[in-house]
Amino acid sequence: MKTVVKRKVKKTAYYLLAGIVAIFVISILGINYYNDYKYQQTYEYKLIAKGYTKEEANKLEEKLSEERLNQLLNLDQKNEQILPILEEKYYIEKNLDQYLAYYKENPDKSTYDIIAMVNIHANLDWYEEIIEADTSKGNLLLVNKFHKLSDSYTPENLTNVSNWYSYGEQKITKEAYDAFINMYNKALEQDIKLIINSSYRNYESQEITYNDLKKTFGSKRADAQAARPGHSEHETGLAFDIFTPGNTGTGNFKDSQAYIWLKEHAHEFGFIERYPEGKEYLTGYAFESWHWRYVGIPVATQIVEEQITFDEYYAYYIENQN
Ligand code: DAL
Ligand code: ZN
Repeated sequence: MKTVVKRKVKKTAYYLLAGIVAIFVISILGINYYNDYKYQQTYEYKLIAKGYTKEEANKLEEKLSEERLNQLLNLDQKNEQILPILEEKYYIEKNLDQYLAYYKENPDKSTYDIIAMVNIHANLDWYEEIIEADTSKGNLLLVNKFHKLSDSYTPENLTNVSNWYSYGEQKITKEAYDAFINMYNKALEQDIKLIINSSYRNYESQEITYNDLKKTFGSKRADAQAARPGHSEHETGLAFDIFTPGNTGTGNFKDSQAYIWLKEHAHEFGFIERYPEGKEYLTGYAFESWHWRYVGIPVATQIVEEQITFDEYYAYYIENQN
C-alpha cells in the first residue's frame, strides 16, 4: 500500500512539474510574442521596414515630431534627402517642408546651401518677399533684399564722424563710431589708415544711389551693387565703406594691406565683412571688400568663427529664437 501512495505522489509531482514547465514555456513565448508585437508598433521598427537603418531611424525619432514621422511613413519609400538635412548645423524644424521641396528642385546643391538659402529666404527671387525689418534688434538689425526699413526710419544716436577719419561728411551711430575709433587706432599701429568714405544714407539718398546706377548700368548690375531704397544697411547707421590712402577705388581695396588687416582683426572691434567673396548667392550682392558692418564684438566673433554671413546668423540665432 505504501508503495502505491508513493507512486501516486510521484505521479502528481511529475504532473505538477510538467504543468509548471508548460506554464513557464507558454509565458516566455507569450512575453516574446508580446514584446515583438510591441516593437512592431514603434517608429524604429516601422522606419526600418521602410528601408532606414537602425541608426537612421533613431536619428529621425530624435529630431522629428510624431506628425513628421507619420508623414515619412506615409511615403512609398525611404526619403534619401531628409537625413543629410537633419545633420546640418543650421537646420530649423519649421523649415523642413521647404528644405525638402527646394532640395528636390535643386538636387545638385549641397545640403548646407539648401538649409542656408531656405533659412534666409534666398530660395526665393530677390525682393520676392518683403518683411518689415525689426528695428528693435539694435546693433543686430537685419536689412537685406527681403528685410526692409520704412522710408521714415532714422537710426538713434547718429554721430558726425570727424574729418580725421573720413572723406566728406559722414555719420554713424555713436557705438559704431567708438568701436571704429578703437579699430582705427589699432590699425594705425601697423601704419594702416582706415578712412570712412560712405556711411549713413537716408531712404531718399539710397534711392538716388540705386537709381543712378540703374540708369547707367541697367537694373541687373544696379541690383548686384546697390540696395533698393529701404533695403540698404547704409540706412541703419551701422555700416560704412572704408578706403585707405592709395586704394581709394572700390576696384582695388581688396588688394590693400587695410583689407587684409580688417579680415583678420575687424571682429575684435565688433565689425564684420558684410558681402564676402563667394557668398554672393546668400547676400544678394557682388563682393564688397570695403563695406563693413557693426554688430558688436561677441556676434562679430561668432560670425567669423562659424564662417557664416550675417543673414545666416540672423535667421538661425535671432529669428529662429523668437
Ligand atoms: N552697396 C550696398 C549693398 C548698399 O547699397 O547698401
Ligand atoms: Zn556700403
